[in-house]
Amino acid sequence: MSRRATVFIIALAILVPVARAEPGQGATLFAERCAGCHEGGAARAPNRSLLELLTPERIYAALSHGPMQAQAQGLDERQRRDIAEFLAARPLGAEPSIPLKRCSAGSAWFDWRKPPSALGWGIDRGNRRFVAAAAAGLTAAQVPQLELAWAFAYPGLTRAASEPLTAAGAVFVGSQDGDAYALDAATGCVHWVYHGGGEIRGAMVIAPWHAGASRTGAARGRGVPRVYFGDNFGVVHALDARTGTVLWTLKVDEHSAARVYGTPVLLERSGRSVLYVPVASFEEVAASTASYPCCTFRGSIVALDAATGERLWKTYTIPAASAAQGQTRSGATRFGPSGAGVWSSPTIDLRRNALYFSTGNNYSGPADGNSNAVFAIDLDSGEVRWRHQVLAGDASNMSCYAPLPGSRFSLGNDVNCPAPFGPDLDLTGPPILIQGTEGRDILVAGAKSGTVYGLDPAREGQLLWTTRLSRGTATSAGGFFFGMATEGDRVFVPLLDFPMTYYQAADTAALAGTTPRNGLYALNAGTGRLVWSAEATEYCRRGTCAGNAAAALAIPGVVFAGAVDGMLRAFDSRSGAVLWEYDTAATVTTLSGERAHGGTLSGSGLMVADGALFVNSGYGGITGTPGNVLLALRVPPHGRAAPARSQ
Ligand code: HEC
Repeated sequence: MSRRATVFIIALAILVPVARAEPGQGATLFAERCAGCHEGGAARAPNRSLLELLTPERIYAALSHGPMQAQAQGLDERQRRDIAEFLAARPLGAEPSIPLKRCSAGSAWFDWRKPPSALGWGIDRGNRRFVAAAAAGLTAAQVPQLELAWAFAYPGLTRAASEPLTAAGAVFVGSQDGDAYALDAATGCVHWVYHGGGEIRGAMVIAPWHAGASRTGAARGRGVPRVYFGDNFGVVHALDARTGTVLWTLKVDEHSAARVYGTPVLLERSGRSVLYVPVASFEEVAASTASYPCCTFRGSIVALDAATGERLWKTYTIPAASAAQGQTRSGATRFGPSGAGVWSSPTIDLRRNALYFSTGNNYSGPADGNSNAVFAIDLDSGEVRWRHQVLAGDASNMSCYAPLPGSRFSLGNDVNCPAPFGPDLDLTGPPILIQGTEGRDILVAGAKSGTVYGLDPAREGQLLWTTRLSRGTATSAGGFFFGMATEGDRVFVPLLDFPMTYYQAADTAALAGTTPRNGLYALNAGTGRLVWSAEATEYCRRGTCAGNAAAALAIPGVVFAGAVDGMLRAFDSRSGAVLWEYDTAATVTTLSGERAHGGTLSGSGLMVADGALFVNSGYGGITGTPGNVLLALRVPPHGRAAPARSQ
């Protein structure tokens, strides 16, 4: 999923022409004071192209009271602002920030009688993204009555793309600037906010939960309920779920570009809680800097003791460290193989004591057998049992798109593009484990080529079927992205194929003869046969008829999919008919009283729990719009109108 994710970010940077801040002295100061470390691949220093992905507030904070204070010594306030605005390419504090609306409940809010709505991002261990009737508290008949109950705006941000999780009467959710929130599920007020590090893209995991515990259960020695999540700086955080107090943090990979993008999963193993963390990276972005020694990152799964954060083992997708492969035209050492990051939440199979995950493309040559593959590893030792690669020869990185018109990424620099370079058609989203009839289990995985694969977990991942649904989009954000949903043996595949004129030049034979498709598609997990298709051109009412990128989610009889124009839709899971739609890109009034708006729906996806639907809106992206809201939708009690939405 590496390219999909990174290109979305890149595309946001390239194609959303943010009002570029008045550069001031930023460029000169950066060249004098920062470039020595941040453009030359100095150990642990994030490459400039990565700094450009941070908010100006974040860069300013790093210089003023964060890790770069020493490097910023002697710079006055104006100069620090200039550097921050130059790197982020937008003005500081462009969106005036309104104080958060705090809850008045004090510390008594945490309700042990309300367990977490899901085990994590995938709802269950199989990553099936199906919420059972009791947990959902919402029926197919009620869906059309959903109305806005409250809206929360992430202060000053331009993206909202993580998956909310509910527990204890709160919504736990992470933000673009690395903050984690516990918001009251009923009203949206803030119980606590924790100021973390890098952007949080996945969901949170909350455990342990003591069924039947009273409100004071923890005080009686039943243990601290914990929140776990990973961030875009490659750090995993463990917090006290009641207070947001940090218990431990750990950087799970030494590489400066490492990131935790997929949600970790938690499992009790012989009395010990183990957190399995998927590791991906931004290095394919760093590769767009001509002097960058590309590339050395290798994807991995890291197992941690959840109580202490101690590392138990780490299994790399590419077993041997990258080796020098010669020199680039700009004189940097070329390294490889690299890449094969793990971009989604791993899948657990207790029957086989296995953990499954899928990988993205290689970053540099030589392309190897570990990219675009489904892996099975041992839950206890991390040892690789088998892997099944669906597309070989796929080494590529951002420098391969350098000739794009208007690119901020070192225009004209293709120095680090591997030759030959691949189409970048990662496996995106995790392999879903579906327990079939007669004990036959199936793993279902999807790729950016719009292709879905059925694999046999009992036979070393042997291919059972392949269904090509769409064209996908080479080198970019096309085809299938973040996650499918399931109901029984039915798999729901959201698809988005961009009119990708920018990337046509890089399209290869891998895409020849296929048709672009946008919409939602249902397959039979046993055979891969199409059960129904809901094409965007047939159901959409607006001009754009956008495709679906966000991870889908199902409840009995209904599957929810989010489109890149901000439309959230509920489809009948038996027929594909649209039951309801809701425009999340509209302007809303938040509890704090400010007006804020959503935008593109993409990323981790939504949550349905306890009769409510929670969704982040505002991914930005190629054909989309930024936004910064979390919306809570509910069926209003009879006779009481929900708050009006302002347009
Ligand atoms: C001596 C080398 C060096 C210089 C000079 C330097 N940096 Fe850094 N910078 C680093 C390293 C190393 C890190 C990673 C720190 C870590 O991971 O703890 C970093 C991290 C950062 C971060 C991310 C901080 C965060 O929020 O975690 C920003 C932003 C940053 N640098 C900006 C700058 C700017 C702007 C300048 C110039 C004023 C600068 N740096 C100068 C080495 C340097």
